[in-house]
Amino acid sequence: MKAVVYHQYGPPDLLKLEEVEKPVPSDNEVLIKIHAVSINGSDREALIGKPVYVRIGGLRKPGYPILGSDIAGSVEKAGKNVTQFQPGDEVFGEIPGYHGGFAEYACATENTLARKPTSLTFEQAAAIPQAGVIALRGIRDKGQVQPGQKVLINGAGGSAGSFAVQIAKLYGAEVTGVDNTYKLDYLRSLGADHVVDYTREDFTRSGKQYDLILDVIAHRSVFACARALKRGGTYFFAGGSVGIIFQILLIGPWIRRMTGKNLRMLLVPQNSSDLLSITKLCEAGKIVPVIDRRYPLSQVPEALRYVTEGRAKGKVVITVA
Ligand SMILES: NC(=O)c1ccc[n+]([C@@H]2O[C@H](COP(=O)([O-])OP(=O)(O)OC[C@H]3O[C@@H](n4cnc5c(N)ncnc54)[C@H](OP(=O)(O)O)[C@@H]3O)[C@@H](O)[C@H]2O)c1
Repeated sequence: MKAVVYHQYGPPDLLKLEEVEKPVPSDNEVLIKIHAVSINGSDREALIGKPVYVRIGGLRKPGYPILGSDIAGSVEKAGKNVTQFQPGDEVFGEIPGYHGGFAEYACATENTLARKPTSLTFEQAAAIPQAGVIALRGIRDKGQVQPGQKVLINGAGGSAGSFAVQIAKLYGAEVTGVDNTYKLDYLRSLGADHVVDYTREDFTRSGKQYDLILDVIAHRSVFACARALKRGGTYFFAGGSVGIIFQILLIGPWIRRMTGKNLRMLLVPQNSSDLLSITKLCEAGKIVPVIDRRYPLSQVPEALRYVTEGRAKGKVVITVA
């Protein structure tokens, strides 16, 4: 099959379209013929090898040569222990381990997949999984957002942020979106009440405080983040620098005791029940999986360059078949 592969961490030019072995599903997996795969921040990170936790599978070079985790396609073959899906079923979801999707075929376990609703295209379905589930957990399920609360989303114009802004608005929050200059009108179009340009302003120094902060690109110290929280408020780290993870784990409990402000890690296991929850909101038209651009498989390097240059608003999708 054709796949886009890379053998060292670095810029998008290192990605090459090559012929590779078609994967063989284990007894617990299905083989999926991929129709569409979307790009997430996790692909950008695994491409460059930063933050350092993305090197867990391969310290000096990528542990797995194919990026891409969020796929939509049709089942070609089902392992003998698979009970929910059979050949011909249209499915979507995440590939365990966040890799293998920039290809014509991939294998996935059934617990990270769901049936693709007929009302959604393959591209729309591929745009939902990782980003939609991070946003749903961070804002609704763990964030427990309430009407009238002030919510800030750092990295609001990207994959997870675009869902998070919409979910926070849907549940009645007053939303501030933080991203680069070029994405501010886009954030307003998603419903953000206020926008902050991260290239000009540091939201932790504005004097404003929030009930809930979802940070998908964390790099500010826990003290700075605590400053931007109301007493009783919660800050969730969804992605960002490793140093901040240690700060949250080591200093977070102390900050909570002293100030009543919660600084927490948002853990988002790949699973189909959260995927179905966010997808229901998309089917009902309450949340839109925003697709900025589509590229063919042969142009994955261009697609990732577009994302890394800070231009992508919402999702970029690769149309495979
Ligand atoms: N917690 C979990 O269990 C879990 C599970 C899966 C994934 N993740 C992680 O969750 C994160 C999800 O990210 P994503 O897919 O939404 O990424 P994304 O699509 O790349 O979006 C990130 C957004 O943040 C913006 N940004 C960059 N620097 C910024 C700054 N200094 N301040 C504010 N915004 C900034 C980017 O804009 P530019 O275009 O200007 O760069 C972009 O719009 C990833 O780190 C991923 O690894 C976490």
